[in-house]
Amino acid sequence: MIRSYTDYSLRKHNTFGTNAITRYYFEFTEAEDLKGYLETTNEWRNREILILGEGSNLLFINDFQGLIINPNIPGIKITYEDRNNIWLEVGAGVKWDDLVEYSVFNCWGGIENLSLIPGKVGAAAVQNIGAYGMEIQNQIESVTGFDLETQTEYTLEASECLYAYRDSIFKNQMKDRFIITSVVFKLDKFPEFILNYGDLKAETEKLGAVNLRNIRKTVISFRESKLPDPKVMGNAGSFFKNPIIETSVAEQLITVYSNMPHYPAPEGYTKLAAGWLIEQCGWKGFRRGDAGVHDKQALVLVNYGNATGKEIFNLSEEIKKSVHDKFGMELEREVNVIG
Ligand code: FAD
Ligand code: EPU
Repeated sequence: MIRSYTDYSLRKHNTFGTNAITRYYFEFTEAEDLKGYLETTNEWRNREILILGEGSNLLFINDFQGLIINPNIPGIKITYEDRNNIWLEVGAGVKWDDLVEYSVFNCWGGIENLSLIPGKVGAAAVQNIGAYGMEIQNQIESVTGFDLETQTEYTLEASECLYAYRDSIFKNQMKDRFIITSVVFKLDKFPEFILNYGDLKAETEKLGAVNLRNIRKTVISFRESKLPDPKVMGNAGSFFKNPIIETSVAEQLITVYSNMPHYPAPEGYTKLAAGWLIEQCGWKGFRRGDAGVHDKQALVLVNYGNATGKEIFNLSEEIKKSVHDKFGMELEREVNVIG
């Protein structure tokens, strides 16, 4: 199925719920539709392109003059299995949490800690989504898509995707160029649970057996207790990444702020909690008009109703400046600002 529009509102296509109009919009459900579209139209030539999933990591601050492509491809297919593992090929348009629910239901492990993350499967492979001690890069086997620059379809093995914390080749060299159509995941039939994040182990044990279903339940209850539901209050999850800084610099900060949360990172580096840094600057629960900072998680900027993308963006810049002034540290946006 194809949907093709001009001057189309994106309000329902971004979880901040802000309004913006795109000049062109093209949504398709089969990879073949895309090839036909590219061959028969000129809308995509010499225009800015944005590949869209569910819009749960985007902030539109202006109308978009280019073409939005939404590869809304369905389907979960078992491609192979052996005694220990199962391989699933999943369409880019499958809702991420539907895949987690399906996997947990079938007792296949590896993605249960990533329960309830909004968005689609295609974007999960772009973002290297992570939560509660898990990152999706560890279960991705390969990513298939269509390269607009070479006009060819090909598959990248996980090792070619250059995954790192909230980073991948699709956010850099391949950005707005490689339209992911499907992702192959390798899941475990006898998973080793990852329970070392905060109270995850203790809270799961309270439910009785420590199994995939109870881990999923616990993660969902954690998330519901601190993250706003985008259907109720517009947001895009963490607005900034957690900064990864040199350990020597982190150690100096810890001498001043002894309660500052910090986590292991690649050799010689330490990860800090951006939410804590922002709260220390006094922003938690702040509201100006309809743009604000969530009162349970300072890393999440919210739209109380009618905030514009620009108002949310301006607030984010003020936050960034104050963290820089207080801690001498540059926060990097996690959310993609468009326009
Ligand atoms: P979009 O926002 O539509 O797009 C995100 C990026 O991916 C854009 O650059 C887009 O161009 C690109 N893209 C999308 N689809 C494709 C494709 N098929 N091919 C190529 N490029 C594509 N993230 C986490 O990692 N961990 C969390 O715990 C987490 N919690 C969240 C909680 C809330 C309440 C919200 C609102 C968001 C949260 N997020 C979290 C962020 C967000 O859910 C993820 O980044 C998600 O993967 C985005 O998916 P999407 O389909 O909405 O992508
Ligand atoms: N903290 C504060 N004040 C706040 C928020 C957090 O002091 O307002 C402190 C907490 O007390 C804790 C630490 O910061 O000591 C970390 O907080 P939390 O466990 O809530 O996680 P986070 O680092 O803020 C990250 C991800 C989330 C993911 C959670 C759980 C990033 C940018 N964010 O948040 O991902 O769900 O861990 O693993 O890495 C997202 O990417 O959109 C997202 C929500």
